[in-house]
Amino acid sequence: MKILFLSAELAPLAKEGGLGDVAGALPKALADLGVDITIFLPFYGSIDVKKYPAKKICRIKIPINIGRKTATVWQTKLPKINIPVYLIKHNYFKSKLIYTDERIFKKNKYTRGMEDIKRFAFFDSACLEAARALKFKPDVIHANDWHTALITTLLKQKENGFFSQTKVLYTIHNLANQGIAEPEIVGFSKLDSDLPIVKADLKNGDINFMVQGILNGDLISTVSKNYAKEITASFYGAGLDKIIKKRRKDLYGILNGIDTDFFNPETDKYIKQKYSIKSLDKKAENKLALQKRLGLPQNKNIALIGIVSRLVWQKGFELITEEFGKLDCQFAILGTGQPQYEKHFKELAKKYPDKFSAQITFDAELAQQIYAGADIFLMPSRFEPCGLGQMIAMRYGAIPIVRATGGLADTVNNKVGFCFKEFSRAALRRTVKKALNVYYNQPQKWRELQKNGMKKDFSWNKSAKEYLKLYKKLCR
Ligand code: GLC
Repeated sequence: MKILFLSAELAPLAKEGGLGDVAGALPKALADLGVDITIFLPFYGSIDVKKYPAKKICRIKIPINIGRKTATVWQTKLPKINIPVYLIKHNYFKSKLIYTDERIFKKNKYTRGMEDIKRFAFFDSACLEAARALKFKPDVIHANDWHTALITTLLKQKENGFFSQTKVLYTIHNLANQGIAEPEIVGFSKLDSDLPIVKADLKNGDINFMVQGILNGDLISTVSKNYAKEITASFYGAGLDKIIKKRRKDLYGILNGIDTDFFNPETDKYIKQKYSIKSLDKKAENKLALQKRLGLPQNKNIALIGIVSRLVWQKGFELITEEFGKLDCQFAILGTGQPQYEKHFKELAKKYPDKFSAQITFDAELAQQIYAGADIFLMPSRFEPCGLGQMIAMRYGAIPIVRATGGLADTVNNKVGFCFKEFSRAALRRTVKKALNVYYNQPQKWRELQKNGMKKDFSWNKSAKEYLKLYKKLCR
C-alpha cells in the first residue's frame, strides 16, 4: 500500500505547532508497520539544507494561473529514518515563514489573507504534478488540515486516469484555521465552478478549504475521539458543525501520540539530571537548574508550574490572572503567539519577578527543561483537538492541570492529574489550589499521580495501527 502524506509542517524540518510534530512522527510509526509512505512538503526558505541535504529530482509545470508556473522537486530524508521527503521549490515558499499572512483575530477565529491561501493552493496542485512526474501513484493521499485540503477538490475534477484509484483520508487538526478563500481562487487554481461542491461553497461567497476537505475526503478523521464528538455541535464546530454532522459516519477520532524516544527523561540530553520512574527524587535537580536559568529564586520545595504553548486565543491563558502571583508557586512560561498574550505574561513577570518567568521565544531545549523541571503543567484551553504538551508532561512526571475538553479530556483524569470543566478564572484557580494542596500536603498521593502518568503509553504505535485500519478500509 502506497501512502502520500501531505502537511504544511514537518518536524524537525519545518514546524510551528503540533501539526509539525504529528507529521514528523506518524509516518515513522506507519513505516514501522510496513507502510510504504512518502511525504511532500513546500521547500520553505527556513529549511536548513546543511542539516537536510536535498537533491534536485525534476522540474514540473503547475496548472495554475500565476506568472511562474514551473517548480522544482527536491528529495531529502527525515533524519535517521528512511522515509522519502520531496520538497516543492518555488518562489512562493522562499520566505522563512511557514505561514506568511498576518493572523487576524476575527469573530473568535483566525482568518488569513489570500497570500497563504494561494501558496497552499499552489502546493496542492504541485503535489499532484510532482506525484505524476515521479510516477508515484498513491493508494491513499493522507491530507492534513486546510493547507492540503484542496487536493480533495482537485482530485474530484481530474478526469485524468492517473489518480483514478487514489482515495483521500482528510485529517482535521484544528477547526479554528479553515483557509477561507476569496472566489478568485477558482480561477487561480482552475477549479471547476460547475462541480457541485465548489458551487455550493461559492454560494457563501467564498471557498472554504476546510469545508472542501471535510466534504470531499473519502474518510475524515480528527485527532481525538472526544474532539470528533465535540465538533458535531455548535460550541466547538467553529461554524462547520452542520457540515461535519453530514459526515458523521465517516468521521473517526484517533488520538495523537508523542515521540517517546525523543521525549524521554531517561535519555534526554538537554536536561541537567536524567531520571526515571524509579528515581523521581532526582527530578528536583532539574527544577533547581531551571530556576537558575530563568532567574527565579532557587528552591526545590516550591511548586513550579510549567507552560509550553503557542500563546493564542485557543489556549485560554487569560484565565491566569494577577491573583496567581499571590499563590505559593512559580510559573515558567515559554512560547510565542498573539501579542496580547505575550504582553499578558510579560506583564505578570514584571510585576512578580519571583513568581513568573515569561520566555517569549521558541526554544526546543528550554521546552524539555521545563517538562523535566516542572511539578505541574498547565493547559487551560478553550478547546483542544488533541494537545501534545499534557502527554509530554506526564512522560516527564509533571502533573497536568487541564480543562476537560477535546483530547485533554481523553488523556487526563484524576488518576494522573487535575481537570476542570467550566472555562472560568474561578474554576482554574480552584483547581490549581487543589493541586497545590496535594503537592504540599499529600506527597505520597503526588508520587502516585506522577507514576501513573509516567506509566501511560502515549507512543505512536497504537494510533498508527488505527490509521492503518482506515487506509485499509479506503483500499478495499
Ligand atoms: C493543532 C491542535 C492541537 C493538536 C495538534 C496536532 O495544533 O491545536 O490540539 O494536538 O494540532 O494534531
